Amino acid sequence: MHLREIAPQQEREYVVPRLNQLLKAALFLEDLYKRYHWQVTGPHFLPLHELFDEHMETLEHEIDDVGERIRTLGGTPVWNPSEFSEQDLLPAPDESIDRDLAVTREAFEMQATYADALRELATDFDEHGFFAAHDLMVEYLRQHEQQAWFLREFIRKVSPETYAENLN
Ligand SMILES: [Fe+2]
Repeated sequence: MHLREIAPQQEREYVVPRLNQLLKAALFLEDLYKRYHWQVTGPHFLPLHELFDEHMETLEHEIDDVGERIRTLGGTPVWNPSEFSEQDLLPAPDESIDRDLAVTREAFEMQATYADALRELATDFDEHGFFAAHDLMVEYLRQHEQQAWFLREFIRKVSPETYAENLN
């Protein structure tokens, strides 16, 4: 007996490569957050060390959800670490920084850029009627926007000048 595919072919062909592109960026961002969590220095080390850990936890769930959605659609999620660095959604990180404010600013940029990618995918999937993938994007969009907000508030608190200059 032949079991049918779960979703229409058009949906599978459209959504899988786009989710894989997102997955690469999510895995890249998770690795980057590990660096922030370990290497951040300065007077605000401890709250940031903990905050970065929380953000990584979200990414871990997200990576699993996106990978499982790809499998549900009959695709193969990227898994090879050599592919993660090929992501093209996020800007290149600055390896020279480790101070709390600089690292938080970079994390903020990454989060805001990642949220942009989720917003675009959410719109795109919605327009095509791919509602389950749309819903997944919206769920994580909310989380990344909230995380960007926390990082932004941290910057405002410790450096009102940076906030006024760069974030308004
Ligand atoms: Fe840790």
